[in-house]
Amino acid sequence: MCGIVGYIGKRKAVEVILKGLSHLEYRGYDSAGVALMAKDKINIYKAAGKLNNLKEIISKQNEADINTHAGIGHTRWATHGMPSEINAHPHTCNCKSLVIVHNGIIENYKDLKPVLEKKGSKFKSETDTEVAAHLIAYEFEEKKDLLKAVQSAVKKLKGAYAFSVMHKTMPDRIIAARKNAPLIIGVGEGENFIASDIPAVIEYTKKAIYLSDNQVAEIKADSVKIYDENDNLIQNKVECLPFEPVALSKMGYKHYMLKEIHEQPDVVRNILTDKLKNKDAEVVLDDVKLTREQLKKINRIQIIACGTSLHAGLVGKYVIEELAKIPTDVEASSEYIYRNTIADENTLVIGISQSGETADTITAIKQAKAKNSHIAIITNRKDSAMARLADSLLPINAGIEVSVAATKSYIAQLLSLYLLAIYLAENTNKTSSKELSEIKKELLSLPSKLEIILNDTKKVQEISKKYSNSKDFIFIARGINYPSALEGALKLKEISYINATGYPAGELKHGPIAMLDNTMPVLAILNKGTVYDKILSNCEEAKARQARLIGVTNLIDEKHKNLFDDLILIPEISDMVSPALNITVLQLLAYHISEYLGKDVDQPRNLAKSVTVE
Ligand code: F6R
Repeated sequence: MCGIVGYIGKRKAVEVILKGLSHLEYRGYDSAGVALMAKDKINIYKAAGKLNNLKEIISKQNEADINTHAGIGHTRWATHGMPSEINAHPHTCNCKSLVIVHNGIIENYKDLKPVLEKKGSKFKSETDTEVAAHLIAYEFEEKKDLLKAVQSAVKKLKGAYAFSVMHKTMPDRIIAARKNAPLIIGVGEGENFIASDIPAVIEYTKKAIYLSDNQVAEIKADSVKIYDENDNLIQNKVECLPFEPVALSKMGYKHYMLKEIHEQPDVVRNILTDKLKNKDAEVVLDDVKLTREQLKKINRIQIIACGTSLHAGLVGKYVIEELAKIPTDVEASSEYIYRNTIADENTLVIGISQSGETADTITAIKQAKAKNSHIAIITNRKDSAMARLADSLLPINAGIEVSVAATKSYIAQLLSLYLLAIYLAENTNKTSSKELSEIKKELLSLPSKLEIILNDTKKVQEISKKYSNSKDFIFIARGINYPSALEGALKLKEISYINATGYPAGELKHGPIAMLDNTMPVLAILNKGTVYDKILSNCEEAKARQARLIGVTNLIDEKHKNLFDDLILIPEISDMVSPALNITVLQLLAYHISEYLGKDVDQPRNLAKSVTVE
């Protein structure tokens, strides 16, 4: 988390940096700051809160102080020290000659701090980053060169970092370094950029160098020199960036979240285009690099992910076990890391991550890789750190997702898991082709059914308004839609701050039912299928406790009339594929409730889109 931008060249640095930071706010937005290289000094401006607060401060400065051609900036998601101006980056040393912006965590900062204090360091903030500023400043006093100072300092640091550093005596350069945190260098003509992610630079250049772990770069307006961990000058490939600037526009929607929900039919269409031609064709998954022989030997699957991606993984378990009949476990990455998991070369480990940068999942994947398991990565970022760990890389190609709440990437992850499950079933002959054909037909019908939901959202909006003042919300479902209940609850709580919980409907009576009274909304997902009657009984139980019942269903049933206070009817779809439709309704519900409550839909409090700390 945290976003870094750096610029050196002919343009007005502050403009490039502020614009870049606005595209990186998804990484954190509790405070922001910039350092601008002026003549003989570095000007630092910081503000607590959103980037707009910083912009306001900068707009009041003298043109002479901010009209510079090199600078670094930062948007923060607090790890050490509360969000405040003092803890905002850039941080500096005693004499303020050196400035640094940092994404990551310096794990040994508590060991380094007293050593530096003995040398005379006076710390002002509670951050780990300020320790790095002082450490590099002492190295600079000795080496009289910023590159050498950073190279020497990073060898003393433990943890994760992506840095940009400037020193007032060397105004023609910015030094950047990375370890376990993303950093790219945008390459321009007579100008260069530094950023945590592509959106910050894409408007200016489509060429970039991806820094690798333990590399340090010296960036000037007309050159980029990269050094490996042994301080040898090396050559990194200049790559073409995969995004178009238009991907960053709201296209007339009020929020990115709404735009991204409405993109879902096209996202599904894109995924299906090359991989599933028609209901009788075999799934084409060239991305899976397991041979037929290896595939046959796979006797266990482990899915590792966090948050929304974890919920996609739970749907994946149902589908894989149903179609490919391979035992599949799903685990939160942060739990997978701290136990002795059983995996070997016959285990297929699937990491799911929109960003491909989630630290917990990266660590878990590395752990599985060390056990020689085959690593498949399902991600929206084929240029990410996680993608580079993949034996089989399965990009979801959902396009850039700006809203912090994941929506279109979830549907794309579901689709990838459906296709993977069918592919595994086809290669192991575990399910009849007739049965697979039925599921393929349902998948191919998804885009038009999603469009039906998205073209008429009046009912969802009405219900959102009616229930927007609820303090709590319960989501229930069974079987393959239990993860939909979890994801619906997560969406609602993260953007509206309403306490929402997802339960398997059968579990209500084992405790949560005590919560029910005439103020509690209970949203039930009822699909035509094996568990339909069971969940209907669970709804009766909830109604008997006076809960306010909302049904999301694809079945017109007389029994619904006296049972539900409100009903949302969705197009008919098989139980197996229904999570992709149901979730769209729940995403819209969360969106409109958050909107009615006047919350910051795209940037909910305390969150960041890319969680690069464990
Ligand atoms: C919720 C959300 C998070 C992420 C989680 C994992 O809307 O976006 O729960 O799903 O932080 O992120 P990725 O998928 O990037 O690994």
